[in-house]
Amino acid sequence: MIDKTTSILFLLIASSAVLVQCEENATDSFLPLKKAEHCDIEQCQLPNCRCSGLRLPSTDFKGHEKEIPQLITVTFDDAVNVVNYDYYQKLFDGLVNPDNCSARGTFYVSHEYTDYTLVNALYQQGHEIALHSVTHGTGTDYWRDADVERLMAEFGEQIEMLVKFAKVNRKHIRGMRLPFLQISGNNTYEAGKRLGLLYDSSWPTQRYTSPAMWPYTLDYRSRQDCQIGPCPNAAIPGFWVSPMVSWFDTAGYSCAMIDGCIYPPKDDVDAMFNWMMENFKRHYDGNRTPFGMYLHAAWFQRGRHYFEAFRKFLLHVNTLPDVYLTTVSRVIHYMKHPNLGKPFMGCPKKPQATCIKRNCGLRKMETGEIRYMNVCDSCPSVYPWLGNPLGRNEYY
Ligand SMILES: *[C@@H]1O[C@H](CO)[C@@H](O)[C@H](O)[C@H]1NC(C)=O
Ligand SMILES: *[C@@H]1O[C@H](CO)[C@@H](O)[C@H](O)[C@H]1NC(C)=O
Ligand SMILES: [Zn+2]
Repeated sequence: MIDKTTSILFLLIASSAVLVQCEENATDSFLPLKKAEHCDIEQCQLPNCRCSGLRLPSTDFKGHEKEIPQLITVTFDDAVNVVNYDYYQKLFDGLVNPDNCSARGTFYVSHEYTDYTLVNALYQQGHEIALHSVTHGTGTDYWRDADVERLMAEFGEQIEMLVKFAKVNRKHIRGMRLPFLQISGNNTYEAGKRLGLLYDSSWPTQRYTSPAMWPYTLDYRSRQDCQIGPCPNAAIPGFWVSPMVSWFDTAGYSCAMIDGCIYPPKDDVDAMFNWMMENFKRHYDGNRTPFGMYLHAAWFQRGRHYFEAFRKFLLHVNTLPDVYLTTVSRVIHYMKHPNLGKPFMGCPKKPQATCIKRNCGLRKMETGEIRYMNVCDSCPSVYPWLGNPLGRNEYY
């Protein structure tokens, strides 16, 4: 009886912490959602509102497309651990953007098998740490059917873990991506907004690839094609969508993530490199919409030359005077304050977050097995999971 009361108490404490956060960030979130209306360009103005579509970030850019800086976002999903960390180090090694700021990537981290000390390292190197849920779910149904409460638990508790175990500043956690890219209509975006996030990047577009769609907010109805529904039709003011602009494989099929391309070229550095360039050029020689390179590190093991080709591509684009390898949240920042030429003022400061590595053997309460997990500073009592993100001892 006491055990049960205590754990309920923990849940209450955890959920009230989330409530306090969203009251600070978005007091209007509790009002019933309004249906999104046709986007009114006069009403919807930067920095906090942008209509969906193909319009350039600023009307002044007309005729100056070639001066729009080409932003590239390299993103990885799922657990960060020793299996993939070396790839990330080698991939970004020595890459410096034309403004002399280091190249950065974005990591959508899910909890299971994550080594939080390595997340801390990526964070201190300047990469963006973002959310991919605690459990990763059991399949698409789990996410398609998810209500706001489930989504807030899955993503809000992942925030708590990243703050506690990887020492990421809460303010630096800005974005989310749904497992399997399975959004659940309004709920996904309502949860993201209530959690105080800036953007979601789970929504693919196949229709708007050439010219491609720019990031936009959900103040008004989205024109984006809905490939994996349900898509939202409520107004979620100020919350950004970073559309996943599809690539095309060698047979012409579209793919939201590179590892979802069914017919990549043969396993050869030049063939792969040329294919990446073809996809890149739709953006670079086109309207200069951000170019997304979305994948899982496991893709590098699919072919002997995949990693080398990817790295070769990054080395090449890194020589171009107007190409910047940056994070998704920096892209949103750019969209809010667009300009020609240099996209950013100065370099973002790399965060200091000293981490003393602890290797913890922890019981996973659901199954009884022991899991080893690296965290910063101090071990939790049990293996953290949904409902108990800080791994507190439920029997004490
Ligand atoms: C999303 O919210 C709008 C506005 O409240 C509502 O009309 C619509 O039915 C909602 N969609 C879903 C799938 O719940
Ligand atoms: C970048 O650094 C190089 C050498 O350190 C320097 O020559 C160049 O002017 C710098 N560029 C910018 C944009 O600061
Ligand atoms: Zn995933």
